Amino acid sequence: MRILSGLQPSGRLHIGNYFGMMEAALNLQHEGEAYYFIADYHSLTSIHDAKTLRENVRELAVDFLACGLDPAKCVFFRQSDVPEVTELSWILSTVTPMGLLERCHSYKDKVAHGISASHGLFAYPVLMAADILIYDSDVVPVGKDQKQHVEVTRDLAVKMNEAFGEGLLRIPAPRIREETAVVPGLDGQKMSKSYNNTIQLFEEEKALKKKIMGIKTDSTPVEDPKSIEGSSILALYKLVASPADYDVMVADHQRGGIGYGDFKKRLLQATWDFFAPMRARREAILAEPGYVDRVLADGAEKARKIARATLARVREAVGLG
Ligand code: ADP
Ligand code: TRP
Repeated sequence: MRILSGLQPSGRLHIGNYFGMMEAALNLQHEGEAYYFIADYHSLTSIHDAKTLRENVRELAVDFLACGLDPAKCVFFRQSDVPEVTELSWILSTVTPMGLLERCHSYKDKVAHGISASHGLFAYPVLMAADILIYDSDVVPVGKDQKQHVEVTRDLAVKMNEAFGEGLLRIPAPRIREETAVVPGLDGQKMSKSYNNTIQLFEEEKALKKKIMGIKTDSTPVEDPKSIEGSSILALYKLVASPADYDVMVADHQRGGIGYGDFKKRLLQATWDFFAPMRARREAILAEPGYVDRVLADGAEKARKIARATLARVREAVGLG
């Protein structure tokens, strides 16, 4: 089984990214041949500053490794180190119906959030399809908001196979973790960089405290029972605390007599502790010069070999060269 996923280097990782997608991807690296990459071509749709893009790529590589990505088990690379993917993207675009892209929610959401409506942004799912198809991927672990893009990928693979020969491209399947499909942010909406409501994985202790103590709550008095439905504190606590501690917090909500401040302090401690081993690994990675570059160079070489073979097969099938 080949597993593939990508993350855009568009800012520091947050808890939504971790529990929505990364954790599942990290677990899957033990179950098959995993290919994970940093989608820097995709980030060009929102970042037009070379220094920022390069810094973000580097930060994401360090963070992904710190979270437990094991380069001995999986191939970890930078999307743009395999330029073959852009050629496949072009070929796919010639069988992509406009209507299919016009229906993509992510494009409409991004434009609504102020990202300029470029052709690249519109064609984003086609490049994502090329990412997935060029590595003959079977399973694509992603957050819920990316599911539609994997469905587009399946449609395009079917179209290519119908036009140019059955079996040309492997049809992938998304893998969504339903229980953490939407991690709430500090304001109760979906946690997202574009909503400015994130808790980053490697937040400084002081900043983390400020954010968690600032989570929006209702005005239920301390002595009254608190609502469990829609509580961001509880939803976040469930991710980072043990099941027993979570049950205690639920019971404390139902009983009343404890204020939100107390719950927030518990959430703060559990969050800090959950990411402690990753913080330590991150320090170790940063202390080893050249390590990240070596991992990415090695990953690029392995990824490129497969991408070249798929592209050669497709070029042959469509009549190029
Ligand atoms: P953002 O919304 O902060 O820009 P991205 O779109 O870069 O995050 O998402 C990267 C990955 O993390 C995707 O697979 C996405 O589905 C997942 N993800 C992001 N935010 C959340 C969230 N709040 N809950 C669950 N998954 C999320
Ligand atoms: N679009 C994904 C996101 O924003 C990133 C991505 C690019 C990706 N190519 C991919 C994810 C291929 C899975 C497979 O999160």
